[in-house]
Amino acid sequence: MGSTKENLESAFAGESQANRKYLFFADKAEQEGHKQIARLFRAAAEAETVHARNHFRVMQGIGSTSDNLMAAISGENYEFTEMYPSFIEQAEAEGDKRAKGTFDMANQVERIHHALFQSALGKLEKGQALDEKGMYVCQVCGYTVEGEAPDKCPICGAAKRMFKAVE
Ligand code: FE2
Ligand code: FE2
Ligand code: FE2
Repeated sequence: MGSTKENLESAFAGESQANRKYLFFADKAEQEGHKQIARLFRAAAEAETVHARNHFRVMQGIGSTSDNLMAAISGENYEFTEMYPSFIEQAEAEGDKRAKGTFDMANQVERIHHALFQSALGKLEKGQALDEKGMYVCQVCGYTVEGEAPDKCPICGAAKRMFKAVE
């Protein structure tokens, strides 16, 4: 058993993962026609989010928006400069094409997130409000874009209809 600080981090990671898994499982249950099982997965997913948020608050994980943007910038930076490049290299060495593909798509998108967060932080620091515009996410690769969805995703080539508008 680790320190309580480590335990909070691992509980936060586990609850966060359980949330996503249950939402994916809910979609599958829905596709298979199991409506109430889908609802059960969504309810448990909701509860895991409550647990994740409670743990994260105790960890003092949520700061001011400017602190949070800095945390996001540093996390994205780590992902596309260190984590994914080494994961991609390892997947290549093992000849695991699917793993390489999913790492590669995420890697390219994290670089874009990094830039978007940096630009938001720059404006916030200058006291400039960000223009309100639409944001769209490619449901194949996660490519994230402001303004309008492109006709074709520049990262994975998916069509415009594969983009989801984010509130
Ligand atoms: Fe939980
Ligand atoms: Fe990201
Ligand atoms: Fe895409």
